[in-house]
Formats: sequence, C-alpha cells, structure tokens
Amino acid sequence: MSYTTCAHSPGYKSGMNKTTDPTKLTKLHELTSLLPREIRGQSHALPRIMSAVRRGELGLTKPGRPRGSFLLLGPTGVGKTETVVVTTNQIFGAGQLFRFDMSEFQNQEALGLLLGARLGEVGYLGGVRERAAEGSLLFDEAEKAHPRVLDILLQLLDAARITVATGQTLDFSGFYIWLTSNIGSAELMSLQHSNDATLERHVLTRAQQTLRPEIFARVNEKLVFHRLSYEHQLEIAEKFLSREIAFLAARSHKLELDKTVLPFLVRKGFHPKLGARPMRDAVEKLVGDAVSECLLDARPGSGVLALDETRDCLVVR
Ligand SMILES: Nc1ncnc2c1ncn2[C@@H]1O[C@H](COP(=O)(O)OP(=O)(O)OP(=O)(O)O)[C@@H](O)[C@H]1O
Ligand SMILES: [Mg+2]
Repeated sequence: MSYTTCAHSPGYKSGMNKTTDPTKLTKLHELTSLLPREIRGQSHALPRIMSAVRRGELGLTKPGRPRGSFLLLGPTGVGKTETVVVTTNQIFGAGQLFRFDMSEFQNQEALGLLLGARLGEVGYLGGVRERAAEGSLLFDEAEKAHPRVLDILLQLLDAARITVATGQTLDFSGFYIWLTSNIGSAELMSLQHSNDATLERHVLTRAQQTLRPEIFARVNEKLVFHRLSYEHQLEIAEKFLSREIAFLAARSHKLELDKTVLPFLVRKGFHPKLGARPMRDAVEKLVGDAVSECLLDARPGSGVLALDETRDCLVVR
C-alpha cells in the first residue's frame, strides 16, 4: 500500500453556502483548461469528470455521500491515474491523494490493514482521515480486492462512512472515490477495427460482470479511456520532452532542440499497446544519455540537442 503524505487541510463543510470561496472557483475554472492540456486523447471522458468535480466542489452532491465517484476503465498507460493526480492536485494541492493498490488487498488480512486489526488501531483508512479531511481515495486494480474489501468500497460509495477497529465511525464525505481497472482491455486491444462506442460498450459490460453489480451501480461516472493513437502519442512526447528540458535547465543544462529530435523520440517510444509509458521512458533515457555523454567528456551539458544518424542516438552539439 502506498499513499502520499500530506498536511492537514481545513475541514470540509458539506454544502457550500451562497458565496463560494473565490479561490475554489478559480481552481475549477483552471481545471477546465489544465486537464485537456495534461491528458491527451481522452476528450470524451474529461468533460464528465470536470462536471462531476464541479458539482462536488460546489456542494451539489447529496449529503452523506462522497463528493463524487468514478470508475476509470481502459488499457494500460493511457492516462487513468494521471487524470486522478492532475485533478486532485489542482483542487486540493499536493499530498491529498491516497492511493491503494488493490492487488495488495486480495486476502482476508487486508481488511485489518484497512480498518485496523486490533482494538485501538485505525488502519490505513483511519490514517488517511488523521491526515486529511478532504481529498481523493484512489483504488487501483479494483477488481482484485478481496470480497470483504469490496464491502468497504461499497460502504464508502454508499454512505461515505467506515467504522474502524477503535469503534470510531469515520466520515469520508469530503473525498472523491476513484476506482481504476484494466478489465476488458486485453480484448479491446485486439478489436482494432471496431468503433469507439462498440469498444466502450464491450468494456463496460465486462466491468459490470466482473465487479459486483452493486458497486458498479453506485459509481457516479463510469468512463472508458481509449488507447492512444499515434497523433496523441506525438503530443504526449512533446509534453514529456518539454518537461525533460525544463528539468535539465533547472540543473543548469540548457538545451535547444533541433527539429530531428521529436520525430526520433516518437519513433523510439511509440508503442501501440503499452500506452505512453514507453514514450516517457524513451524521452528520459535518450535525452539523459546525450547530456551524460557530455558530462563524462568534461563538456558542459548545454547546447543544441540533435539526432546523430550514424549512432542512432541523440547528442548535444
Ligand atoms: N492520455 C495521456 N495524456 C498525457 N499523458 C499520458 C496519457 N496517458 C498516459 N500518460 C503518461 O503516461 C504515464 C502513465 O500514465 P498513467 O499512469 O495515467 O496510466 P494508467 O492509464 O493509469 O495505466 P495503468 O492501467 O497501467 O495503471 C504517465 O506519466 C502519464 O503522464
Ligand atoms: Mg494507473
């Protein structure tokens, strides 16, 4: 289990009053442009996420429920977790995302980890509430959880309340609940020629069969993320590249880009089935290698980054 540490946040008041906090409004407005800028190729899903978050932040969700709940489905590396990270950081600031990998909660003991095993223990979920009054709970690979752990998810989705081993009942109504899963995505990758609507239907049907129907029914937004096209991976490569250049510039390695760099990185990093992770790895490795070659030769790691066709790598000139 891993979750981020975070500072205490101001208590969540259910139901905003008429004069909504102006900084909250600014954050919501900014999310509208931030999310599509950070997450590419999922424009069908992002508006539904933004609209659910708006309702959650403006106090329009029912009392005694989480602020919002989402099931994000789709293949590996297409932006499901990144969407949760970007949204949570924008709304709450860093450190308010608590992430649980359900593949680590497959047996009966998992219940004790989450809720505390002995009298006096609060478990991981109690630990979350000690740190934060609002934020996001992310349950990755939700379908792998033990049935008793799924019962906890059900309670969270239904009433936003959980009783831990100390006997305390904890209120999670200030939280968004996010479930992610790759259910049905292996087949999705092989159905190359079907249209998006058919693929989405297929994945949603599989998810409904695999997850409990009552969990499926209680999630507000069920969204299928699409595999990434070549064009979208190109945009993502540009994003990774500018992030890498900024990272190196902060370490005094100032790089200008030759026009050969981006097409080379896309050629090396594009993978039709593994999403954007190989692209991120290719950008970090190939740009990093070019700079470290300079440093090893006792040259400054600054200059023009370009393709060396003979050696099939990037170099700093
Ligand atoms: N659609 C996208 N737009 C921009 N960046 C993306 C996109 N998809 C993936 N990435 C980048 O690729 C990396 C992996 O993405 P992410 O962790 O969101 O994958 P995932 O869909 O959650 O996959 P998994 O099912 O394996 O958990 C991140 O660094 C993310 O920034
Ligand atoms: Mg993920």
